[in-house]
Parts: sequence; C-alpha cells; structure tokens
Amino acid sequence: MKLSVLPGRTSAALAVSVATLLATASIAGAAPAPAAAAAPDIPLANVKAHLTQFQSIAAANGGNRAHGRAGYKASLDYVKAKLDAAGFTTTIQQFTSSGRTGYNLIADWPGGDTNQVVMAGSHLDSVSSGAGINDNGSGSAAVLETALAVSRAQYQPTKHLRFAWWGAEELGLVGSRYYVNNLSSANRAKISGYLNFDMIGSPNPGYFVYDDDPAIEKVFKDYYAGLGVATEIETEGDGRSDHAPFKNAGVPVGGIFTGASNTKSAAQAAKWGGTSGQAFDRCYHSSCDTTSNINDTALNRNSDAAAHAVWELSS
Ligand code: TRP
Ligand code: ZN
Repeated sequence: MKLSVLPGRTSAALAVSVATLLATASIAGAAPAPAAAAAPDIPLANVKAHLTQFQSIAAANGGNRAHGRAGYKASLDYVKAKLDAAGFTTTIQQFTSSGRTGYNLIADWPGGDTNQVVMAGSHLDSVSSGAGINDNGSGSAAVLETALAVSRAQYQPTKHLRFAWWGAEELGLVGSRYYVNNLSSANRAKISGYLNFDMIGSPNPGYFVYDDDPAIEKVFKDYYAGLGVATEIETEGDGRSDHAPFKNAGVPVGGIFTGASNTKSAAQAAKWGGTSGQAFDRCYHSSCDTTSNINDTALNRNSDAAAHAVWELSS
C-alpha cells in the first residue's frame, strides 16, 4: 500500500496511530507472545578472518595444527582468548593420546537452564600434512563466530549453551570421546542436543545434513529449504566425526557437512553447481588444505545455518 492513497495522513501520523493500536492491543492482552529471537547473520568476513589466523598459526608452527604439535595449542589459545574476551566461561580439558598431551576447549555461556544443555562443537586439530583449513578450520571458525554472535546479541536463551573445540579428532575422535566418557551419567542426560561442524566449506561443495536426531535434522533442512538450497543425507562415513561418541552415549545429535574425498556426481553438480567427477575436497588431508581450499558461498551459508540451529534449538 502506498501512503499517497491516504490523503491528509502523513507517514508520521500513520506511525503514531499504529503505535497506539499496538499499545491498546497489548494493554487488552490481545498481543501475541513475541516470537523467539531470530539468529543474526554471521559475517563471512569474520569467519574467514579466523581461517587466516589458523593459516598463520600453522605457518609459524611447522605447517600444521596437529595433535601434540605447537600449532594445535596455538590454535586453542587463539580461540580461547576470543571467548574469554566475549564473556564465556572457558575450560581446557587435558588428555593424553599417542604419548602427547591433547586439549579440548569448552566454553559455557552463562545463563539458561543447565538441566537442558545445547552443545555445538568442532574439531580444532588438523592432520600433520597441512594447515587443515577446510578440515576443520571451517567448522572451528563457524562455531567460534556463532559463539561470538551469542555474546554480541547478549542472547539469553531458555536452554544453556555450551561450545566445544575438540582435540585429536584426526587420531580417532579422541578428544570428544574423552569428554563424553568423563561426563557423569547425570550430566550426560542434561545434554539435549549436540551439533557437529566438521568440513563445512569444501571447495566443490555438497550440502549434506546428518540423518540422526529428526528434530535437529529438520532445523537444518528447513534452513536450507528457506534458502532454496537442496540437501542430501550425509553418507560419507557416518560416525567419522565428533558427534559419534555423543550419539553412542544416547545424546541426540546432528550436523552439516560439505564433503571430503567422495566424488560429486553429475546430478549433484546439476543441483549445487561445481564440478562433477571431482572430489568435494580434492585437498582433503593434504598440504593444499589452505585458505584457498574454501568455497565462500558454502562457508557463508553453513555458518549462518550453525547460528540458526543454535538459536532455534536453545530458545
Ligand atoms: N574428519 C573426518 C575425517 O577426517 C571427515 C569426514 C569424513 C566427515 N566423513 C565425514 C565429517 C562425515 C563429518 C561427517 O575422517
Ligand atoms: Zn575433520
């Protein structure tokens, strides 16, 4: 409706009358309950800035961020400093694997019902052959930026939020398994969901959603449907990431993934673009998994999806 069809009423007058109407409605108790706050857009530039930092950390520490190497601890210190400055309560959990000390980083956002914990996590270690920017700087950066967005919004969800960065995933899900094994059964039962983000910016991306907890799966699927992006069920090695220990302990899990060494089919290239007959990530576990090994559109959509799921499932 154009204002010009309402002669004699300025837009200011119209605004005042609408405000009066709303005030009257709410006094009468007729106003609907406010909708849960929507997740903010996650700025791609912020996510990419974290990837640049991970790349620099690898470069300064022998070219990788692998378990037991200096680049891993430097990555953890980088993420922890950001979270501490943003008001999170951070905890470093230490473990030993292959004779070397490993670390998980856990960040709790104060508030919410601690009997209903929503967790989002990603592995922070790379393999020793490279910087691990898609695997898994991408998930680590998206989860970090989602946590920082929670702080910027001063989001106060109904449920309690906990973010995690796992060590030694590449040695066989060691850090996440250690965390789950060391939870009391009471504390395990308080986790209402665990969301995993491992490889979410593959250069020749697919849009895969884990086929685990149906409610979590639906939140991700609906998000992509809203963008008009087709999804498929994740099948490239179910159980090959840090959601597996949670799932095995009975925690509802979900997550998203853009593909590793599997090949994109012609049908997949038709719906997602990219190159058929080529791996989703040709640099998987290789030295070429650098900041050049990222599809910005996939990373942007998936970072926003992570924030959306965290908001939606914790409200
Ligand atoms: N981090 C996994 C690995 O190195 C990558 C991977 C393979 C994956 N398949 C997956 C991650 C399925 C999530 C879901 O083996
Ligand atoms: Zn990985």
